[in-house]
Amino acid sequence: MANIEELQSIELAVWDKLQHEDWLSNLSNKFSELRWLLPKLTAHEGKFHGSILELGAGEGWASSVVKRMHPEALVIASDISPAAIGGIGKWEKIFEAKVDAQISCRSYSVPLPDSSVDLIFSFQAAHHFILQKETLHEVKRLLRPGGICMYLHEPSCREYIHPAAKWRVNHKRPECPEDLLVIERMKRIAQDLGFNIQIAYSTTTLNRGVVEGVYYKALSAFPFLCDWLPCTADFIFTKQ
Ligand SMILES: C[S@@+](CC[C@H](N)C(=O)[O-])C[C@H]1O[C@@H](n2cnc3c(N)ncnc32)[C@H](O)[C@@H]1O
Repeated sequence: MANIEELQSIELAVWDKLQHEDWLSNLSNKFSELRWLLPKLTAHEGKFHGSILELGAGEGWASSVVKRMHPEALVIASDISPAAIGGIGKWEKIFEAKVDAQISCRSYSVPLPDSSVDLIFSFQAAHHFILQKETLHEVKRLLRPGGICMYLHEPSCREYIHPAAKWRVNHKRPECPEDLLVIERMKRIAQDLGFNIQIAYSTTTLNRGVVEGVYYKALSAFPFLCDWLPCTADFIFTKQ
């Protein structure tokens, strides 16, 4: 089992490599993922105001979308990879919106003052953070009382099936270390830190291959299965 520094250096190397990859296929991927992101941003529209921070933003395309939708908000995009976040300019051009700041930092060590943020969000990134407890501790420090943190579109599973589910996601995408958010662990951390936590499963079949499409169709037909089988989910933490 690699340690955190090793895992993070693999993640950083992936971004260095991606910089030289086909921009058009990246664009096409992110436009498909926008079909996942947009309904979530719309559903939670009322939460996007004041000071907003994205963690694990990659190249910051989702922050650019948020800034376009909420020009009056202060939007800060952050990612562990300087190479990734340095690429935000092209997304700002596409979405015709300029974020207020971009930071390269780890999710559990963000150079912003205590109680300075109203909303923290990440999009399909929190399952990469490794140090979940430390990250939510940092989230608690950064949020104003009543502030909200949303981990959107995250692979999740129950503890009993985690080893098998983790093996599968790493088998599917071996180039970058992958994990899932374990429901019981996230609830325990949230409870220990005094967050109110809500988990909403997402069974969309958009952008899924044939096998995954059938799997998510079955989950949407029998929603109680989402509680037992690996499923994409949104995690909403509210600081009391
Ligand atoms: C699957 S990518 C998603 C990126 C972006 N949200 C998107 O949708 O394109 C996960 C991102 O998390 C970042 N990351 C991994 N560990 C991190 C950490 N501890 N703190 C901040 N960012 C991290 C990676 O560099 C990567 O950009």
